[in-house]
Amino acid sequence: MKKTTSLFFVMSSFTVIALFLPSGCSKAKAPAPLPQIVCTSTISFSQQIAPMIEENCSSCHGAGAGTTPVLSNYTEISENADAIINTLRGTPQLMPEGGPALADSLIQQFQCWMQQGKMNN
Ligand code: HEC
Repeated sequence: MKKTTSLFFVMSSFTVIALFLPSGCSKAKAPAPLPQIVCTSTISFSQQIAPMIEENCSSCHGAGAGTTPVLSNYTEISENADAIINTLRGTPQLMPEGGPALADSLIQQFQCWMQQGKMNN
């Protein structure tokens, strides 16, 4: 009888651990915070960011293309920067729509532009 009781306690401790582990992970519904990355060069909005958006996004998000957010100029791109970096990383859905994801180097470039203060340079 004693053996059964302690076995019961051991089993229930495992159950408690098993119940708590997944709930600890799933509580973060928001996208994972961006790890800061090391940016070795200054990103140019006009030379790098605008052409990247133009090439990959404007068919749907250009002015008059019909999909919000409209991403056709500096103000629209900078105001939507958080949503853009999240979708580039697949949250809440991957952009460009239907994939494939942009090259890591382009995603990092966009993140560097944000870390550097979203300059209109
Ligand atoms: C083929 C069309 C298409 C392309 C190309 C495209 N998108 Fe989208 N995008 C959509 C559609 C459609 C939605 C709306 C989806 C919805 O509401 O369910 C959307 C939604 C978004 C949203 C809002 C997401 C949200 O729910 O908060 C962002 C930000 C976004 N796109 C960014 C981009 C970026 C950045 C690119 C280029 C790298 C891009 N999209 C390329 C079609 C496209």
